[in-house]
Amino acid sequence: MPTATKHPTYKTGIDLSEDVREKLIELLNARLADSLDLSTQAKQAHWNVKGIHFYQLHLLFDKVAEHVEEYVDLVAERTTALGGVALGTARVAAKNSSLPEYDLHAVSGEDHLKALSQNLAKYGNLVRKAIDESENLGDKGTADLFTEIIRQADEDLYFLESHLDA
Ligand SMILES: [Fe+2]
Repeated sequence: MPTATKHPTYKTGIDLSEDVREKLIELLNARLADSLDLSTQAKQAHWNVKGIHFYQLHLLFDKVAEHVEEYVDLVAERTTALGGVALGTARVAAKNSSLPEYDLHAVSGEDHLKALSQNLAKYGNLVRKAIDESENLGDKGTADLFTEIIRQADEDLYFLESHLDA
């Protein structure tokens, strides 16, 4: 299994030790795999939802996908800013993602709302942990990046879950 540590860590003027940067790069690559996985899952929902609320949900799921695509870029570029190699292919993402596979038999709006909200919640909880992990490694920049992600991810989860509440 490819890991970040098998790739070179490039020199940088950032005053975090190479050892610390390697840990951050590993953490960022783990969340990059999750983000790539989740972005395709949101598209899966966007393309396949059926039913009376089709159009509204089609748009909502695309909005979630758009946000997750932004996280992908933020996380990948933080990895490279810290001197790491961003592992961002579909194959690596599929192998390294911490998320379960999407419900490929989901049809109705409710099916997709449940499937996507479950995995978005898992994703958000991993990002929330990554804030503390980055803080503990002394990198407020990465902690702030994950904090930026969690604010939007939590709001999107609220939008999805609100459909299932009443
Ligand atoms: Fe589309």
